[in-house]
Amino acid sequence: ASDIPEDFDHVLYTEEQVASRIREVAAQIDADYAGRDLLMVGVLNGAVMTMADLCRAMKSHMSMDWMAVSSYGAGTKSSGVVRILKDLTKDIEGRDILIVEDIVDTGLTLSYLVQNLRSRNPKSIEIMAMFRKPEAVTCPLDVKYVGFDIPNEFVVGYGLDYADKYRNLTDVATLAPHVYAS
Ligand code: PRP
Ligand code: MN
Ligand code: MG
Repeated sequence: ASDIPEDFDHVLYTEEQVASRIREVAAQIDADYAGRDLLMVGVLNGAVMTMADLCRAMKSHMSMDWMAVSSYGAGTKSSGVVRILKDLTKDIEGRDILIVEDIVDTGLTLSYLVQNLRSRNPKSIEIMAMFRKPEAVTCPLDVKYVGFDIPNEFVVGYGLDYADKYRNLTDVATLAPHVYAS
């Protein structure tokens, strides 16, 4: 999906750069969770690409579950309110949990999620986020595995959307201002 119309300003990371970083992070996770029973929790919808690529780049066993959480709706700014739209299907008590996200922006979504999942008494909770915007963080958060730290610009692709579009862009690019100015 690299022929989506010219709604982008510039490419931050190519498909190849993303894939190569995913392999590095996967190796780290393999090493850290060797011999354990890892449950990876993906956050719909943004984390779909990251989860699919990350877990296939791993060599260890893992299980997968999903939550749907939304804080952005159709806009470019967080509404400040996190809503659970779909919960986990299984109990996580005593489990090693790795939350998988496409991006940490303000940190609001993950702060809420970590707090929520912690109350269910898992054995451990860590976070993997493919992208993080250090300048945008308002809810400080321990993110154990970060793909790339990026500037505070509106980025799309590799699961990241604007108004639910551009998720299937294989590169990660900044959105041209004309797209969200109107
Ligand atoms: C986006 C993104 C993260 C969250 C990060 O999700 O996928 O989940 O926002 O922002 P924050 O750190 O400021 O909370 P969104 O709510 O847009 O839903 P989506 O994954 O379906 O796009
Ligand atoms: Mn999301
Ligand atoms: Mg979104």
